[in-house]
Amino acid sequence: MAGQFQKYKLGAAGVGGMLGLSMCITLFFPSFDFRSGESTWVGLDKTLSNGRVIGFSYEDPTVVGNGKPITVVLDKDPKTGEAFDPPIRAYVYKPGVPLAAGVRHPANMGPTVSKLSIDKGRISEVADGDPAVFTVESADVNGEEWSYVSNASAIRGWTPDMVLNAAGDDNSFYIGRGKTVYITEGCWWCHTLLPEHTQDWQVFGTPPFLGDFNGEMPTAFGSDRKAPDILHVAARNSSKEWMTMHFFNPRLVQPNSIMPRFDYLWGKQDANGNDIDFDGWRAAYTEYVEGKTAYPPEVPEFAPDSEARAVIDWVLMSLR
Ligand code: HEC
Repeated sequence: MAGQFQKYKLGAAGVGGMLGLSMCITLFFPSFDFRSGESTWVGLDKTLSNGRVIGFSYEDPTVVGNGKPITVVLDKDPKTGEAFDPPIRAYVYKPGVPLAAGVRHPANMGPTVSKLSIDKGRISEVADGDPAVFTVESADVNGEEWSYVSNASAIRGWTPDMVLNAAGDDNSFYIGRGKTVYITEGCWWCHTLLPEHTQDWQVFGTPPFLGDFNGEMPTAFGSDRKAPDILHVAARNSSKEWMTMHFFNPRLVQPNSIMPRFDYLWGKQDANGNDIDFDGWRAAYTEYVEGKTAYPPEVPEFAPDSEARAVIDWVLMSLR
């Protein structure tokens, strides 16, 4: 009897302690100002390549990836011809494309990054919907290196057409549209974008910093994992061929994969403008699975404006 009472008292003390702790969190935690978190290079690259919003927005009410910027890789200045070694990324906003959250609300990027982006990067000289090109630059503040957003249209005189022509289609990446595909296809039911501070780290790479997500919406960390974390997938597998086969039908490369095939992201026509014969493809694939043929059928080359291209661009260029 006495022993049981003792246990009850301990339990009551435990509950009291918890209540006290939660009260402390309520009282003191709000004094942490989230806006003091500074964007990293990764965060700026994401906000600029994803564009304004990835989920529902008035600019893209049916969430098909309209109104997204294009990320390009440049090995020389399209205006002066000066070589960039290593090549740099530029983020192209054609007329009417809504500005990224970080540019629209600079405070999102944290006090130092926001000040650099306004003072040195002249980002407040662009209005929403204006054609614009941005780059991420770095500056030294009191001996520390900071990344900030730079308005390359104002500073370098770059226009969207000039930059897109210089890069060509091979060096243009539809990262923002690809992230939209990740959201609308529900990839996050199986995948996460958040390696944790556990043994995870050794397999999936380093957990993100707070500033890697400033200005990104939604972050799509995911909550349930039936499949590998893919925050850094391109660092372990950067093969476009593998990704192409795996998205068309994961069983081509992982015989027991539970990942659905995403062949419909190819659309109706392939890269050469020919209609894709999905029924024929599946019939040939079934023969291969049954052992009647030695090789699976060839995966059609995706068209440059297909969702398949966008999601592969996002995987290979953003998840590194
Ligand atoms: C039903 C669960 C499921 C869904 C939905 C799903 N995947 Fe997967 N995915 C997997 C599994 C399981 C793997 C591990 C390899 C395999 O079995 O194919 C995988 C592997 C991958 C890989 C390679 C990972 C690595 O570590 O090499 C990428 C990239 C990927 N998926 C992207 C996507 C994208 C993008 C979507 C949405 C268009 C998606 N997946 C939807 C289950 C899923």
